[in-house]
Amino acid sequence: MKTTASLPIEFCGIELSSPVINGSGTYDAIASRRIFGDEAFASENFPFAAFVSKTITENPRAGNPPNRIWETPTGMINSIGLPNPGLDGFVEDHLPILAELPVPLIVSVMAETPEGFTRLVERIEETGRASALELNVSCPNVHSGLIVGEQPTETEQLMKHLKGRTELPLIVKLTPNVASPEEVAVAAEAGGADAVSLINTIKATAIDPVSGSPAIGAGSGGLSGPAVRPVALQQVRAIRSRVSIPIIGMGGVTDGESALEFLLAGASLVAVGTENFRDPVAGRRIERELGAELTRRGFDSIGAFCDRPSS
Ligand code: FUM
Repeated sequence: MKTTASLPIEFCGIELSSPVINGSGTYDAIASRRIFGDEAFASENFPFAAFVSKTITENPRAGNPPNRIWETPTGMINSIGLPNPGLDGFVEDHLPILAELPVPLIVSVMAETPEGFTRLVERIEETGRASALELNVSCPNVHSGLIVGEQPTETEQLMKHLKGRTELPLIVKLTPNVASPEEVAVAAEAGGADAVSLINTIKATAIDPVSGSPAIGAGSGGLSGPAVRPVALQQVRAIRSRVSIPIIGMGGVTDGESALEFLLAGASLVAVGTENFRDPVAGRRIERELGAELTRRGFDSIGAFCDRPSS
């Protein structure tokens, strides 16, 4: 007898085995492959239904000075600063490994200009190895002048600029650090975004009581984990009522129940982030628990849940 709901779901034309994926930069699939070998990429072991890469920029980046990670009550501040090998390094060294993933690959990219985004998007698409692209317009940890995702008009223009240039679904990662994330989501949809993901981290810092200075090397970073879940749920719910494109919800997903909260708020997929630092295979557990939560509520599949009368 089947004991939990079946979870396969379609997202932007991509078939996924469940709605549970990772948040960009919170799970190092390449390190897992290096350490655990082929087992790490066996479909029965890989913890997510799709893998979102760490954000790639055109040029290599070293990232921010330490401390880069700081634990807080029920949360974590990160100020990693997007260290990455740059577009060439990613395509030459990382993509051949990620091409062996047992799940679809979503590549996260960030640039300072629409032209920079275009170069990233076109080159990644050319490789034929990505199923979708996530545009990180919301990183709080780089000093690049304007953060596109803080301005609805900039976001809409970026989407319009990119839209005709790729066949791949474009997911816009939204910042919570604005007065109205809904307006940015509406602008992203108007510009042609296929989906939005939220929330990125909330600007935060910690003070070292001995030195009296910020404990974060770059002075500040972004807060994530269960502490931000209520904020994330509110923003997902508000954005759900304003756009019709799918939402990837994230912010403190730690178990099946919190994943379900995001689905109830209007997300189509949920991303696990901070919990991966504590338990790198949390995605598998959360998937199982989500299936059990749906069954408990009388749904035999995620499809039946999505089609429920009140949704
Ligand atoms: O590496 C980083 O600092 C990533 C930040 C972000 O996109 O939130």
